[in-house]
Amino acid sequence: MCGIVGVLGTHEVAPILVEALRRLEYRGYDSAGIATVNNGVLDRRRAVGKLVNLSDLLVHDPLPGKSGIGHTRWATHGAPSTVNAHPHRAGPVAVVHNGIIENYRELREELSRKGYEFSTETDTETVAHLTHFYLNEGLSPTEAAFATLDRLEGAFALVFLFDGESDLMIGARKGSPLAVGHGDGEMYLGSDAIALAPLTDRVTYLDEGDRVILTRSSVEIRDADGRLANRPMKTIQMSATRVDKAGYKHFMAKEIAEQPSVLADAINSYLDADGQITLPGDGLDFTKVDRLSMVACGTAFYACLTAKYWFEQLARLPVEVDIASEFRYREPPITPRTVALFVSQSGETADTLAALRYCRDKADKIVSVVNVPESSIARESDLPLPIHAGIEVGVASTKAFTCQLNTLFLLALKAAQDRGVMSAEAVTALVEKLRGLPGIFNIALERDAILQDAARHLSESRDVLFLGRGLMFPLALEGALKLKEISYIHAEAYASGELKHGPIALIDKTVPVVVMAPRDSLFDKTVSNMQEVMARGGKVLLITDATGAAEAGNDVWRTVILPEVDPILSPLLYALPAQLLAYHAAVAKGTDVDQPRNLAKSVTVE
Ligand code: F6R
Repeated sequence: MCGIVGVLGTHEVAPILVEALRRLEYRGYDSAGIATVNNGVLDRRRAVGKLVNLSDLLVHDPLPGKSGIGHTRWATHGAPSTVNAHPHRAGPVAVVHNGIIENYRELREELSRKGYEFSTETDTETVAHLTHFYLNEGLSPTEAAFATLDRLEGAFALVFLFDGESDLMIGARKGSPLAVGHGDGEMYLGSDAIALAPLTDRVTYLDEGDRVILTRSSVEIRDADGRLANRPMKTIQMSATRVDKAGYKHFMAKEIAEQPSVLADAINSYLDADGQITLPGDGLDFTKVDRLSMVACGTAFYACLTAKYWFEQLARLPVEVDIASEFRYREPPITPRTVALFVSQSGETADTLAALRYCRDKADKIVSVVNVPESSIARESDLPLPIHAGIEVGVASTKAFTCQLNTLFLLALKAAQDRGVMSAEAVTALVEKLRGLPGIFNIALERDAILQDAARHLSESRDVLFLGRGLMFPLALEGALKLKEISYIHAEAYASGELKHGPIALIDKTVPVVVMAPRDSLFDKTVSNMQEVMARGGKVLLITDATGAAEAGNDVWRTVILPEVDPILSPLLYALPAQLLAYHAAVAKGTDVDQPRNLAKSVTVE
């Protein structure tokens, strides 16, 4: 969501803050700002739009000082504007905030009655005024920040900076991540280790409810009950925090292209020396599991939908899949022999985290499939399963999706073996096929030019439909989501068999239909649905394999031929054309591929 950073440094801090914000920009990019303390004087600069606007402002209107805080915003309360940008300031205090203060209206009314004047609609300004109020009551900066934090409801990470205090910064974590970075005579705070990577590799992650008092030479962490807390310091692998496009025009292009190598590593990370599937920690014994309840949002939800087919078909394990924002308020009954499984790239998605907490004392085990091992969802799981995708910067999820699929597929195979549905030999045979997938993926990447050409046509359409059946239905959903989020073309996906129950009314020659259909046992049925589309003037882009292409007939507008794979593995491969179509359509339309409008990478608010 929003990205926050704080530095108690020994050099001019403004360029350091801007560089850290550049690394956090994937979390939000509506506006940005920094505040510093220079010779005891607090001041700030803010700009609406991308971070470059703040950098430009700082060239004309520099902000000196060796301690400071910074923020890149994804608007929740109050439109993106300079006045609503963080840091928010009230008298001698400035604050940056990620999350939502739920009781800000009550606090605002209370403070207004006391004569505090508000200049924005944001919840964060309330935090600044409340701290100012406590300072006016005679509390010290630390006491005032803590008194303020005691009054706040909601989920947030906050950093406070004070006029007259050039060696003090207060941070708090409740529902949104915050990490302390340890430098040499310097101290930092950041939303994640990625922001702090150029500054230090020594990081302490705050726990839920923690507050921290930082000076250049000391770190004092207090837990939710106010007790002194000792949190471990970790050394971060720098390779895990590299954020560069490696010569690609966009992060998304790089992240699509690196899937073969990333997938190869991700597959191997779950296999032992004998090629057997092995889970970290205490693992998971599926003989004791009656039901799997999978919960996620967006692309991660589609990974769960795909995995439902795998767990049911391969392991004969009943599976329910839910969107986290629905699940958390539905009060679903969870039987004791249920494993609750949460999938999240960021590991910070507020709805998924809330769903996990709902299951905490109900499910037999909490398992998560995450890309960020230090994330809240990973930390609150009994068994966090890393997907090993590496940092994903592009807002549209690509390699994280295929790596989620990989982890879930291996888990389904493990379930099948544990439950005696598949023999060890049959599992090994499928694992071997999976190991061959990165090579096949490389061949599929050669279809880039054909997909680019097709995407150019799609980019001229107002609406696009995606169709798929069986394992291809979730992929169709993912294809439509990818296209709409980065190209802003309206796209919908349907299970092919549902077409004639309503959506077929949409078909005419202006609505291209992308059909995802490897030559599997359902192919003939999908071809029939495709014929129904073409009979009504619909323009079909068929994504299939050579056998499928030969059997599909001649009326198809375009055919993209992918290498043949075992149909059970097809979701991993067919994710690629879905990603490339969206990417090239967005490039053709000239949209902001890596930072599409209104979106943010990590959704830490409801
Ligand atoms: C789409 C996309 C989103 C995320 C969703 C969940 O490309 O990235 O739909 O999948 O916001 O995010 P995580 O996986 O971080 O929980």
